[in-house]
Amino acid sequence: MSRPFPPPPIHIGDLVVDPPILQAPMAGFTNAAFRQIVRGYGGAGLLATEMVNARGFVWLDEHEAEHPDRLWGVAEEARPLAVQIWDNDPETMAKVGRRLAHEYRVSVVDINFGCPVKQVTEKAHSGSYLLREPNRMSAIISHLVEACYPTPVTAKIRLGCSPESINCNEIAKVVEEAGASALTVHGRTAKDFFRGNADWDRISEIKHHLKKIPLIGNGDLDSADKVVAAFKNYDVDGVMIARASLGRPWLFSQAAAALRGEKVPPEPDLETQRDCMLNHYRLVVERFGEQKGTVLMRKFACCYAQGKPGARHFRTHVAHVISPEDFLHVVDEYFPRSQDAASSNELPANELAAVDSENLS
Ligand SMILES: Cc1cc2nc3c(=O)[nH]c(=O)nc-3n(C[C@H](O)[C@H](O)[C@H](O)COP(=O)(O)O)c2cc1C
Repeated sequence: MSRPFPPPPIHIGDLVVDPPILQAPMAGFTNAAFRQIVRGYGGAGLLATEMVNARGFVWLDEHEAEHPDRLWGVAEEARPLAVQIWDNDPETMAKVGRRLAHEYRVSVVDINFGCPVKQVTEKAHSGSYLLREPNRMSAIISHLVEACYPTPVTAKIRLGCSPESINCNEIAKVVEEAGASALTVHGRTAKDFFRGNADWDRISEIKHHLKKIPLIGNGDLDSADKVVAAFKNYDVDGVMIARASLGRPWLFSQAAAALRGEKVPPEPDLETQRDCMLNHYRLVVERFGEQKGTVLMRKFACCYAQGKPGARHFRTHVAHVISPEDFLHVVDEYFPRSQDAASSNELPANELAAVDSENLS
């Protein structure tokens, strides 16, 4: 089958997502600071928040007249923006969806049917747990669609609960028939967690089971080339990128350039990457204050260092920072510099391989 290339923009309800490259929701990471950085580089057609618990939203609203911290920035920031919510109760989900659509005026309300974490699945019978309850999924979606109208509602799933119970084709039909405007599929099962490779053949197969809504594929895309290959080789209308963008928020713009057939911009030099990280730090501290912001920044800083010479050393030191002075000192001392990178080319191949294989996530 011939696939259009470059892929056309996708339509999620009335929203045009152009380019069809989406920034994935990631709990603990895709907060307003990260999103601002991603938006600055461009290339992501739709950005997403971290997942927000609907029950928690209602409780905070009723008891403390507050909204979850994870909605930081959502009211004011640029659009398009999707907010992802999770729970297993259709009424609660609809209540929160209504507020997000009509008060916050978000572009998309996305439902998490993919989270494999025990606190969400076993304790709250939500996230990927719901893949075994298509009727409940359908009720959640249809309640939300009605409550959010005309704001589109989308769903994000995994292939199934386990390799023995893959049911994404059936679930895709349920999602579409219940009125969702797009389906995103992470090509692993919940039991796989992040093990193995995402199964893009399975993702592609789902397309035959959808009549009109766009299919967005997700899993293991960490370069512009892989994004191009995903569109060329698989039946997807859009792609979503998660982990690889954490320390490389410019990845979306590289992928977007590749889709336009342009030369892919090179990785920013190390000075620029460091400035990007410090800008990220400033945004986090502005919001959370110096101490909390510094502690929160540790994990982001590790992402920026990942795969670079000396990353392990940097990570060891940044793991203990508690003040801006500490943080800036560690960055000055240990964040890779261009000259380190140049000399690192002289390292023996086995040491380079060890540096490359460091996995900070
Ligand atoms: C730290 C972390 C947090 C995540 N949080 C969410 C989340 O809140 N909602 C969601 O749908 N998926 C979440 N995911 C899954 C990603 O959105 C994505 O489906 C998965 O990482 C596969 O894509 P990738 O290979 O591009 O990373 C999370 C993944 C990671 C690594």
